[in-house]
Amino acid sequence: MTSPLTPPQIRARKGSTPLVMVTAYDEPGGRLASAAGVDIILVGDSVGNVVMGHDNTLRVTVDDIAHHTAAVCSAQPTAHVVGDMPWMSYHVSREETVRNAAQLIRAGAHSVKLEGGSVRVPHIEALIAAEIPVMGHLGLTPQSVLAFGGFKVQGKTKSAVDVLLADAAAIEAAGVYALVLEGVPAEVGRLVTESVGVPVIGIGAGAATDGQVLVWHDLLGLGSRTPPKFVRQYVDLNNVISDALTRFASDVRSRSFPSDGETYSTPTELA
Ligand code: KIV
Repeated sequence: MTSPLTPPQIRARKGSTPLVMVTAYDEPGGRLASAAGVDIILVGDSVGNVVMGHDNTLRVTVDDIAHHTAAVCSAQPTAHVVGDMPWMSYHVSREETVRNAAQLIRAGAHSVKLEGGSVRVPHIEALIAAEIPVMGHLGLTPQSVLAFGGFKVQGKTKSAVDVLLADAAAIEAAGVYALVLEGVPAEVGRLVTESVGVPVIGIGAGAATDGQVLVWHDLLGLGSRTPPKFVRQYVDLNNVISDALTRFASDVRSRSFPSDGETYSTPTELA
């Protein structure tokens, strides 16, 4: 059995074979992602959208991510597990940031991810001083939905790209071992990727990044939302599951389920 990649090993993948990252939220997710050989499982706060059915990620708590991290880790995945720090879990103080991250590490995560650039440097440094590896997240950061006025592609002006490059440099200097770059034009994805020495894992950031991440439900066709343009859906599980449930309902109603083979036999003395 292979061991999960460590942050230094992930960092060393810069410019080499692209890193494969997928979100997962439960034991089947951890088990299947692991069996498929993905490098990194993100227990994302996207759980708020795709599992809890919310419009955004802002209602997700540290307890929620810890709960789902423990479920994923019960599969003993051979992938590196990242616990996503939810909104307001790393915004108040360094102490609170470290305590909240520790809860995710104690639930089984190997590192944590947080959103934002230069403004997050003190919190990233506090986590690293507490021996907690940190993955950054820049671009269309979903926890900024209210500030952005919606889920809008970022890095569309020269000044926005300059801020993005400065943010990437700042969090790299603070010690992140990798960063997610979301929702930016492909050329901006390339510029950011070339500007830092840590791997950039893209989601809607074009083909030049050091890896790609997709949300479980988007990749597997299990969502109720129309997937964003950058999603490649590999299977339509909505249809597969819906067909199975319809057939089950029909079999129950027609009494063709359960069959004799699906039933415990009657003891002779009761027959
Ligand atoms: O929570 C999540 O799924 C994420 C990905 C979009 C990178 O942060």
